[in-house]
Order: sequence, then C-alpha cells, then structure tokens
Amino acid sequence: MLLGTILRSGSSDHLVASYGKAAMKTMLVTGGCGFIGSHFIREIVAAARWRVVNLDKLTYAGNLENVKGIAEGEGYRFVRGDICDRTLIEALYSHERPATVVNFAAESHVDRSILDSTPFLETNTLGMQVLLEGARKHNVERFVQLSTDEVYGDLDRLSPSDEEHPLAPSSPYAASKAAADLLALAYCRTYGLPVVIVRSCNNYGPFQFPEKLIPLMIRNILVGKDLPIYGDGMQQREWIYVDDNVDAIAQVIERGRVGEIYNVSTEDEQTNRDVVRLLCDLMADEVGVDVKSLHDRVRFVIDRPGHDRRYAMKAAKIRTQLGWEPRVSLDMGLRRSIRWYFDNQPWLDNVTSGAYRQYYDAVYARAGA
Ligand code: NAD
Ligand code: DAU
Repeated sequence: MLLGTILRSGSSDHLVASYGKAAMKTMLVTGGCGFIGSHFIREIVAAARWRVVNLDKLTYAGNLENVKGIAEGEGYRFVRGDICDRTLIEALYSHERPATVVNFAAESHVDRSILDSTPFLETNTLGMQVLLEGARKHNVERFVQLSTDEVYGDLDRLSPSDEEHPLAPSSPYAASKAAADLLALAYCRTYGLPVVIVRSCNNYGPFQFPEKLIPLMIRNILVGKDLPIYGDGMQQREWIYVDDNVDAIAQVIERGRVGEIYNVSTEDEQTNRDVVRLLCDLMADEVGVDVKSLHDRVRFVIDRPGHDRRYAMKAAKIRTQLGWEPRVSLDMGLRRSIRWYFDNQPWLDNVTSGAYRQYYDAVYARAGA
C-alpha cells in the first residue's frame, strides 16, 4: 500500500516519465523471500514500475510462502541462489542487466551469530563483496544496502546516533553488517559505485521468523510456552512496523543521495520488559486470553552474551531530506501482527517444524529457560 502510494505520488513522476511502462528497468532484489524483503517485493511488484528479479537462497528464514500470490512472468522472476556464488551473480548481472540492486540477503539473527558466526561472515560480508564487484563491473545505477542500528553498538548513556556516529558493533552479526557497510562506502569512493545505505531499527510485523522477540513471544503465547526475557529486560530498542520501513527504503531508492547513509527509526525507545508487557495486554484483548495468566508466564532468563543495552538513532536526516515519517504506532502495529499470526498458524507451524526445535533448545538451554 505505502510503496504504491509513494510510487504514484508527485515525487516519483519522473521515474514513470523517464523509464516509461514499455521500457521498465530491472531491479535485482536479494533476500526477497525473507521477512522485510517479502514485504518490499509485494509492494514493488504491485506498483508495476520495475521488473523485479528476486534472488534468494531460501535458508531457514526464506520461504516461498512469503511471496505467495506474486505471479512469475514479465514483471517478476524468482531465482533460487546464493549471493556468494560468483558464477551465478555474474550470469545474473549479464543477463538481467539490473539498473538497481537492493540487498536484503543476510543472516539476520544475533543469537544464531553467537552460536556460529561463519554463515554471517560468508553471506553478510563476502556475499556483499560479490554483489558489489558485479555491480561495479556492470555499471549498476544504484546499489542500496540494508543495514542496521546495531552497527553503532551499545548506546548506553550516549546520545542517539546520527549517521556520523562511530561504528562499534558488539555481536558477530553486527560486525559482519558493519564490514558490509564499510565495503559499500569503499566501493563508492574508490570506484564511484552509486551506493546508498539504509540503517534501520528493529522491524516487526507479519512473516517475521519466530526467532525474533515479537513473533517468538506471540508464538509462545499461542502454543502455551513460557515467555523468556533476557537478563533484566531493561534493554532498550526502537520498533518500526515493517510497512514503514519498506516505505523508507522506497524513498531512499528514489531520492536518496549517492554515498549517503540514512537512519530509519521511530525514535521511540522501549524496554523489552515494556514491549512484552504491552504484547501480553494486546494479545489478551485481541484473541481473548486471560491477561494475568500471560504475565505469569514471563521468565527472566540468563542474558544474551554481549547483549547491547540500548540502541537509539536520530532519524532527522531522512525526515528532512526525503520527507519520510513512520505512520504505524506500536500499539496498532502489534495488534496487526497479533491478528496476522493468529490467523496464519499453519505458516507458524510450517516454519517451526524441523530444525527450529534444535535451534530453540540450543539458545534457551544456554539461557537457562
Ligand atoms: P530474514 O532473515 O527474514 O531474511 C533474510 C533472507 O535472505 C532470507 O530470505 C534468506 O533466505 C536470504 N538469504 C540468506 N542468505 C542468503 C544468501 N547467501 N544468498 C541469497 N539469499 C540469502 O531477514 P530480514 O529480517 O528480512 O532482514 C533483511 C535485511 O534487513 C538484512 O540485511 C538485515 O540485516 C536487515 N535489517 C533487519 C532488521 C530487522 O529488524 N529484521 C533491522 C535492520 C536491518
Ligand atoms: O536492531 C536491528 C536488528 O534487530 C536487526 O539488525 C536484526 O537483524 C534483528 O534480528 C534485530 O536484532 P535484535 O537482536 O535486536 O532482535 P531480537 O528480536 O532478537 O531481540 C530484540 C530484543 O529482545 C533484544 O534486546 C533481545 C531481547 N530478547 C530476544 C529474544 C529472541 C529477549 O529478551 N528474549 C528473546 O527470547
């Protein structure tokens, strides 16, 4: 919805005028079967201004169900593959000739990076180099990298970070993403590759894999499990509904300045404790479960190693330069998410069959849950 609105609004008329329907340019989207990527793909295909090629390895986090209903054809093509595969990437750049690349592909979960950092370095850093190298060789017009507030590290007792804030990643995940950002900026300066970076805060919404805080809590409530909060639960995060982030990414693709970084944040800091408490209240309200029994299931478990206390970003740049604003309140976004997971329990069952149980035991046994 949001992206469609933006692409039809006055600011993007130049895109329609210059490219025209008949000569639609190609956008290569990587990781489009994951959480944020699938929301992005749905919107961009619906807006019908680009031909979209979705390259995804379909790891545990990538699921064709997430893009169900998007018909393959002239406007959309799915390719199963790895961004680290140089031969495949070269073939895709040569045959598809993408004007724009948007890189969502990543190993994205901090707890998994603590269990094994290898796939994080491979995909998030080496895979990034493979994509950048192809983009440089094939004269891509715009390369948008999806980055994270985690690259700034722990902001405990510091003022919120603007885009100039030093990088100080704490987890292997965050370090692999910071390395990718630096590589992208190096390609921009050294080779003139037109790179733009988007650093966003914690996303939530439909199709998010239930290893992340909000869908994990919703699922645990639905299946009658305890609600594990790491440490004292006073860590602070900023939460953005996924549609608002997709909207921001669309604006950066259209009008973001080359070589620049854009923070995307609601600037609304919440402790994990408060988020889980609010989620229990809303869950009780939305699906009619007893609220006290939900609060009683909260367990404070051993903290995540290296856990950052606080992320906080200034989003003044994207607000003032591009006119972006988040539109979905935390209350509204959580209600939408709860309803979606409640109505899509077969999706939840499907993604949590198999290896999910081993993952859950590995992390939550460590946490003493
Ligand atoms: P996700 O884990 O839900 O999806 C990642 C997707 O990438 C999956 O479809 C997976 O199959 C694919 N993938 C993984 N390795 C690949 C490889 N080697 N080649 C091709 N495809 C591969 O992630 P997400 O939450 O949608 O995050 C998307 C991007 O946004 C990531 O780069 C992440 O670092 C960044 N980000 C996420 C958040 C958040 O809160 N989820 C916040 C800030 C930034
Ligand atoms: O901040 C942006 C980042 O947000 C993205 O770059 C990452 O890809 C994404 O995974 C997310 O990372 P976090 O580690 O912040 O998200 P997660 O949902 O895992 O955890 C959110 C907070 O909740 C964090 O402080 C840890 C805590 N937590 C998480 C889980 C899964 C718990 O207390 N209990 C849990 O069971």
